[in-house]
Amino acid sequence: MARIAVTDGMDENAVNILEKYGHEVVLKHYSKEELLGGALCDYDAVVIRSATKLTKPVLLASINEKGGVSFIGRAGVGVDNIDIPVATENNMVVCNTPRSSTHSVVELTIGHLLTSCRHIATGDRLLREGTWAKKQLKGSELSGKRLGLIGYGRIAQGVGNVAQSLGMEIHAYDPYLPPKIASNNNVTLHSDVNAVFSMCTHISVHCNLTDETHHLVNEDRLNLMPQIGVDGTHCGNHIVNCARGGIVDEDATLSALESGKLTSAALDVFETEPAIGNQLLNHQNFHGTPHIGAATMEAQSRIGQEMAAQLIDHFNGQRPHSALN
Ligand code: MLT
Repeated sequence: MARIAVTDGMDENAVNILEKYGHEVVLKHYSKEELLGGALCDYDAVVIRSATKLTKPVLLASINEKGGVSFIGRAGVGVDNIDIPVATENNMVVCNTPRSSTHSVVELTIGHLLTSCRHIATGDRLLREGTWAKKQLKGSELSGKRLGLIGYGRIAQGVGNVAQSLGMEIHAYDPYLPPKIASNNNVTLHSDVNAVFSMCTHISVHCNLTDETHHLVNEDRLNLMPQIGVDGTHCGNHIVNCARGGIVDEDATLSALESGKLTSAALDVFETEPAIGNQLLNHQNFHGTPHIGAATMEAQSRIGQEMAAQLIDHFNGQRPHSALN
């Protein structure tokens, strides 16, 4: 039976399922130094979230003469913290749980959009400080505005559906998507990402972090945003990122908040996490959350079960359903 390292936590029920199947589950976070020193090479599988980085040297240190790690599970969607080509070269299968957190991330994104336009975080902060800022906190409605979705996968489609029900017009950029999906959802798909920035006062990021998308939201693109909604309201420009840190250029975002080019920015994910001391936190029109897109009871339960099922399949000699290599 397999020995499985779970380095960033896992739902208790999933651990119980794996143990019932006879596997040994070790819940333990390893430092970068421990990983580089071969902490994983006595395991057959490792399950991570975003905190553990499985770089080339870490993966090479996770192999031993008997084999070592043969299964890498990413309990979540993004796999930018795993060197997949190196995993493939070394016969390690990489799996994620692409569907399990969709509802949770959709809801958090909508929460950030509403918080941005209705000053919910600022109002709360001022109230705690003893200021009744009723007159200063005039917001704008999402209704009658354009929302630009960068990436139009499952989560973006969910955000688009809810935003449409709030009266928003949806535009999207996703060069990898069959255009029919967008047209079926009454969404305008653009082949030029700049067109989305030029047309939309609200942008929400939903793509993977790759070389292509690093700092995709940058000064030049923020400068394209129109400030005025299609309904004629001077609502300003708003950015939300609940996808992956590094897609939004944080320096450019801070400058745009300072110049007024951006009216608000909301991040759940940061270039460096934990984002304690991040300079954006000093700006009144910024609000953030600590990478909690998938942090709901329901999503963690689904993620754990999906991951446990894939581990069981793998050690039964079957290909896991979300294998990426
Ligand atoms: C994801 O990619 O699904 C999230 O980053 C999961 C997490 O919170 O680690």
